[in-house]
Amino acid sequence: MTETAAFFKDKTVLLTGVTGFLGKVLLEKILWQFPQIRRTILLIRPFSKNDSEASVGLRARREIFSSPIFNRLRLRHGQSFDAYLRHKIQTVPGDISCPDLGLSAEMLQKIDWEADLVINLAAMVTFDERLDNAVDVNALGPYHLLNFAKRFGNPTMLHVSTAFVCGHCTGSVPEQLPERNACPFDLMGIRHDESFSVEREIERARRLAEAVENESRTPSARSEFRRLARLQASAARSLSPVELDTSVEKNRQRWTSQILSQQGLSRAQRHGWFDTYTFTKAMGERLLVRSGSGVPLIILRPSIIESSLLQPEPGWIDCFQTSTPILFGYGKGEVPDFPGKRSGLIDFIPVDFVASAILASLAAGTGGANPKVFHVASSSENPLRLEDLMDYCLDYFRDFPLRGRSNTAALQPWKYRSRHNFDWWLNRRRQMLRTAAALNDHVNFWHSARRWSHKLAIKQMHLDRLDYYARLYANYTRLFCQFATDNTRQLFQSLTSQGRQELFFDPNAIDWKKYIQEIHLPGVRRHVMKRTGSGDLKSIGA
Ligand SMILES: NC(=O)c1ccc[n+]([C@@H]2O[C@H](COP(=O)([O-])OP(=O)(O)OC[C@H]3O[C@@H](n4cnc5c(N)ncnc54)[C@H](OP(=O)(O)O)[C@@H]3O)[C@@H](O)[C@H]2O)c1
Repeated sequence: MTETAAFFKDKTVLLTGVTGFLGKVLLEKILWQFPQIRRTILLIRPFSKNDSEASVGLRARREIFSSPIFNRLRLRHGQSFDAYLRHKIQTVPGDISCPDLGLSAEMLQKIDWEADLVINLAAMVTFDERLDNAVDVNALGPYHLLNFAKRFGNPTMLHVSTAFVCGHCTGSVPEQLPERNACPFDLMGIRHDESFSVEREIERARRLAEAVENESRTPSARSEFRRLARLQASAARSLSPVELDTSVEKNRQRWTSQILSQQGLSRAQRHGWFDTYTFTKAMGERLLVRSGSGVPLIILRPSIIESSLLQPEPGWIDCFQTSTPILFGYGKGEVPDFPGKRSGLIDFIPVDFVASAILASLAAGTGGANPKVFHVASSSENPLRLEDLMDYCLDYFRDFPLRGRSNTAALQPWKYRSRHNFDWWLNRRRQMLRTAAALNDHVNFWHSARRWSHKLAIKQMHLDRLDYYARLYANYTRLFCQFATDNTRQLFQSLTSQGRQELFFDPNAIDWKKYIQEIHLPGVRRHVMKRTGSGDLKSIGA
């Protein structure tokens, strides 16, 4: 037995975020690699408050254990797979955005376990999430979880953050925690109007959400939502009172979400973060460190997590987020260009490397009162240039066109325009579409005019989506920093050769061309596009 396996023997691990992409890979890895573990407790958000325990049991069966990621474990255990799960897994309801995870006093009293290790993966990963939601989950969530965990012994806590908490910082970003109230602009020496304070931002988000909710319920706002609902309804039919109420409420919610999402981006950018996601994740780290007193703490910051390199199989992925909508949008001809720097770096890391680094860092221990920070990233040790990534994609999609798309000659390399030039190019395309639509309206007596009008509407939709992607993603494709990985490299080097086979996370081993063309893109097609048909290009996040 390796030292790492000995460390996990008889340990109880509390894990959040396990219905997500990284969560399932980590859970499978634990059960596969360290069967000597005593128990894994999965904290899952219940569907319903009424029977929350049954509800999370159902979610675990439907959303976790029905996944093909567990195939090799199923094979190992055969008929006794379910019994094995019952023995090793416990599901508990909980929402990290609430104090005490939203559990009643009665439920808290019923808890009969102690956790040795707490791993927090739960997060809102949408870049432009509503500010109040993102603050509740990403900033306050880790803090609530830590306080919850403290009640039941003194576990080590590992919190998964993101390497992009550094915001617009340039150069080599160290594996360090910044001062509590320092924002990226402070770290870069850039003057800005307003000093940053975690507490103030949380308070501001709360007040803002309250004000926007109140505003959305005023009589004038309601009458505007009603007017919109009537406009949206089909002209052929008027709405019943119940349908009208439902539609009004949907419009109200859409409006509040839009305002709070814009506010999130604006607060983040004011202090030098890319978006609401990285802003609130950075607040989460700062709050955790402040309140950790005495709890051994590890903060692990992955870069952009993509499909697995090796385990549970090369190319495992089950979500259509991070870079996938852009790369597959390119393959479909819907993302013909994107703002970015040709020689700029893009930082990808396979998901199995992240899961392995989590387990190795826990086994290595925190070694002191100060939290340990690990970047799990590739840009320092084995950089991938944006232009190379896109060349690999171009060759791949020419050789293996997406279903029903034979016009691969139309796929051209990106021009790597600056943001300003990209906006100009996008506007020109918009104008051309408008002109084409106006001409088409003039010839609407032709029988093909309707078909054209439909095609133009689809092109318009693709442009709008491209604009949305560019606004949210451009910072990630124009990276001006590299994430230092000294701690992570040292951690990997400290493993024995057998330990490295158990937990492999050396970015130098990645052959990017092979990874993109033979592992990642085929993996998305095999596991994600098969499930969703053409792939839902709408979801976006990290
Ligand atoms: N994906 C990346 O490229 C990337 C890169 C760097 C860092 N990370 C970090 O890695 C972690 C995992 O990311 P992922 O890609 O696996 O995300 P994901 O697939 O979106 O999963 C997020 C998980 O968080 C859970 N969650 C959200 N809000 C919660 C709440 N209030 N209480 C309890 N659970 C909640 C979700 O549960 P529900 O099913 O109930 O929604 C889900 O299980 C996150 O912390 C993320 O910030 C991700």
